[in-house]
Amino acid sequence: MTVAELAPSDPVSGDLLSVLHGRVFAQGWPASAFHALLQIPGTLALVMLDDGRPVGFVVARSVVDEAEIITIGVLPDHQRRGHGRGLMEAVSRHTVAAGVTSLFLEVSAVNVAARTLYERLGFTVVGRRKGYYERPDGPADDALVLRLRLAPSGAGAAPDDDGVGA
Ligand SMILES: CC(C)(COP(=O)(O)OP(=O)(O)OC[C@H]1O[C@@H](n2cnc3c(N)ncnc32)[C@H](O)[C@@H]1OP(=O)(O)O)[C@@H](O)C(=O)NCCC(=O)NCCS
Repeated sequence: MTVAELAPSDPVSGDLLSVLHGRVFAQGWPASAFHALLQIPGTLALVMLDDGRPVGFVVARSVVDEAEIITIGVLPDHQRRGHGRGLMEAVSRHTVAAGVTSLFLEVSAVNVAARTLYERLGFTVVGRRKGYYERPDGPADDALVLRLRLAPSGAGAAPDDDGVGA
């Protein structure tokens, strides 16, 4: 299990992210969206390699001392093998090395897999956006805003006692 950083200027990076994203999410993003994202300063794109083959991805963006996870996914056949955790830990390492002290993300309140992963990593709920994720077949789901305080040493999560309850 290896994490590789994608080169923002290489068009293949955006193409690969789009293919992986489309295999994880019902609503895929076109390669052009990833190409544009990768051009924004502070964008970090990592892929998880298993036996040399990409099985997961994460894209994050940093601005000064804050970073946000834009998207993360692990191919369905490769989930529950530690790849999601590995990607999140790699993002933490990269961003803390760049001076980031808070890592944010947004997750659907009903996404048990992702919420459990993030909670295990030390993220806490700091906000809720009611009815944020629309669904064609029912009421919209709330989005939770989560934050992880990062220790400047890169040692992992720093104490965080001011999150609000979900
Ligand atoms: C969320 C996601 C990235 C997790 O990736 P993963 O590689 O399966 O996660 P890991 O194997 O690293 O899991 C780490 C821990 O997270 C929790 N977890 C992961 N999947 C879970 C599930 N389906 N149910 C409950 N807990 C889960 C567990 O605590 C797990 O540790 P354990 O296996 O030792 O119990 C993956 O499920 C995914 O791609 N989902 C679809 C896309 C998505 O929802 N992305 C997040 C949007 S915010």
